[in-house]
Amino acid sequence: MGLRLYVLMLILKGLQFQASSASHSFSIDYTDNSFLKDGVKFRYISGSIHYFRIPPAYWKDRLLKMYMSGLNAVQIYIPWNYHEPLPGVYNFAGDRDIEGFLDLVAQFGLLVILRPGPYICAEWEMVENEYGSYYACDYDYLRHLVAVFRAHLGDKVLLFTTDGTKESELRCGTLQGLYATVDFGLDENVTEAFEKQRIYEPRGPLVNSEYYTGWLDYWGEPHTTRSAEEVADGLEKMLELGANVNMYMFQGGTNFGYWSGADYNNGIYNPITTSYDYDAPLSEAGDPTDKLYAIRTVISKFQALPAGPMPPPTPKFAYGYVSLPQRVALLDVLGLLSPSLPFYSSFPLTFESLKQPNGFMLYRTLLPHDIQEPVLLNASENGVHDLAYILLNGVYKGTLERNKVNGINISGQLGDTLDMLVENMGHINFGANESDFKGQIWINGFNLGRFWPARGPQKTLFVPGSLLSGSSVNTIVVLELQDAPEKPRVLFLDRPLLNGTRSSTHKNKSKSNLRLAVSLLKSADVTPAKRKQNLLL
Ligand SMILES: *[C@@H]1O[C@H](CO)[C@@H](O)[C@H](O)[C@H]1NC(C)=O
Ligand SMILES: *[C@@H]1O[C@H](CO)[C@@H](O)[C@H](O)[C@H]1NC(C)=O
Ligand SMILES: *[C@@H]1O[C@H](CO)[C@@H](O)[C@H](O)[C@H]1NC(C)=O
Ligand SMILES: *[C@@H]1O[C@H](CO)[C@@H](O)[C@H](O)[C@H]1NC(C)=O
Ligand SMILES: *[C@@H]1O[C@H](CO)[C@@H](O)[C@H](O)[C@H]1NC(C)=O
Ligand SMILES: *[C@@H]1O[C@H](CO)[C@@H](O)[C@H](O)[C@H]1NC(C)=O
Repeated sequence: MGLRLYVLMLILKGLQFQASSASHSFSIDYTDNSFLKDGVKFRYISGSIHYFRIPPAYWKDRLLKMYMSGLNAVQIYIPWNYHEPLPGVYNFAGDRDIEGFLDLVAQFGLLVILRPGPYICAEWEMVENEYGSYYACDYDYLRHLVAVFRAHLGDKVLLFTTDGTKESELRCGTLQGLYATVDFGLDENVTEAFEKQRIYEPRGPLVNSEYYTGWLDYWGEPHTTRSAEEVADGLEKMLELGANVNMYMFQGGTNFGYWSGADYNNGIYNPITTSYDYDAPLSEAGDPTDKLYAIRTVISKFQALPAGPMPPPTPKFAYGYVSLPQRVALLDVLGLLSPSLPFYSSFPLTFESLKQPNGFMLYRTLLPHDIQEPVLLNASENGVHDLAYILLNGVYKGTLERNKVNGINISGQLGDTLDMLVENMGHINFGANESDFKGQIWINGFNLGRFWPARGPQKTLFVPGSLLSGSSVNTIVVLELQDAPEKPRVLFLDRPLLNGTRSSTHKNKSKSNLRLAVSLLKSADVTPAKRKQNLLL
């Protein structure tokens, strides 16, 4: 599974990496099998939160709820492709303002377990998988990473690794001089899992760096949950042993835009849903769940909870049906969508060579001569990654799919326009294979992510209230790639539907109905902001 990672970690307050090292210290007491913080015995009870899966307007709210749950640390990953979309091009602003996020963490007096990558995984678009599970098993590479982090962070920070409990994972993921920790969930025996850590660290603190509070969902697969009681019981067992625990996830959040990744297990390609709710203690909308209260009760047996109440769930509002009055064919608005001129090339170019990391690319050519009898448009050897809609003079002819449909027959006249709209379905963590994704939705220009209700189990998309304006017109744009209805509309609900009916098979598309459409809404139908809701598609 893609969650056991090799990482380098450090624990320090806020962003004061170098500055704080003079006055603060964090080390290991091998005699007492514990951490020492500023020279005093210390144990962390931590939760994972991904700033890149939560709108910045809610960072503080989520951290407050984590603090009120009794945690004394948070664990965060840094996905490099989020901050460096193209080589040498960096973005640390707005929703990528990691320094701002760490400042908020520091305001609550929470410690940070920082996992700067590489090898974070987290079901994120294209991010490498855990190093101990990676075939290379290259200790020179690990030594190189250590040198890089030591150069940036100095020699005072504590670096450590985390891996699954399998022998090969620990053998390839650990390195002399880095503290080896393990990660495991409910399916593993706590005592036996920590015995695996003891093989590599006979003394020192016990650490479960990723204790799974829930699990992710795949399109077309059953919705996954973990019971609150079992998660709380497992946590209690570990804390009784004196272990340090990070709960993965404490809040999962959302794979907005094109950021959801895909796993590749036993030859099966499994793209991950837009929702990363994870059945975590804080829901996708950031609300405390029964699981959070069960965990909080366990924590209270081991350390004092902060005074004061847990903030209540945020308000939701079911706006009901909103119709989308303007409906345009995608091919009619290419100039609007892509204002820069088309790029001319003798041969099709990859997304990467055109510096477009994800999304859609339209390839267009004119037929060089009459084709009376149908001939094969051949994209064999998986020439199309991952999916391509084929149109001739704007009329849909069929879909090419990686590993599934490598060719379709077409005929036409000299000069006819042949279009191939290629969709990138998320770069893989593990492997890639198939898809029939249905489209994306933007609200006020923000991409809520991919929707695929025909496949399930996720039927709604999370709409953060911070996206909506109470004073100006809200704009909804729906890109519907299959069977766009004559009168499109969307339904706003006040609750998520994450466990809807599923279809694991590729549905036949009705060729005559298939249109590529962009629906634009410009109306004040969607009223006051500061509320969250879920969009039914
Ligand atoms: C876990 O493993 C230990 C040691 O093998 C064993 O004594 C214990 O019964 C196991 N616990 C459970 C719940 O299976
Ligand atoms: C992709 O899936 C197809 C079945 O849909 C299967 O035949 C093929 O082997 C898979 N490809 C890989 C690389 O696993
Ligand atoms: C499609 O193209 C590939 C690569 O050029 C070729 O090997 C294959 O035979 C072609 N298939 C057909 C049906 O023409
Ligand atoms: C294309 O047409 C040929 C000849 O009729 C046929 O043998 C072949 O199966 C067709 N291929 C596809 C992908 O429809
Ligand atoms: C999801 O729904 C199905 C069908 O109603 C049900 O059998 C299953 O238990 C549900 N799963 C979860 C995790 O709620
Ligand atoms: C899908 O189309 C294929 C080929 O036209 C047909 O054999 C199959 O029965 C169809 N499946 C469904 C579910 O309609």
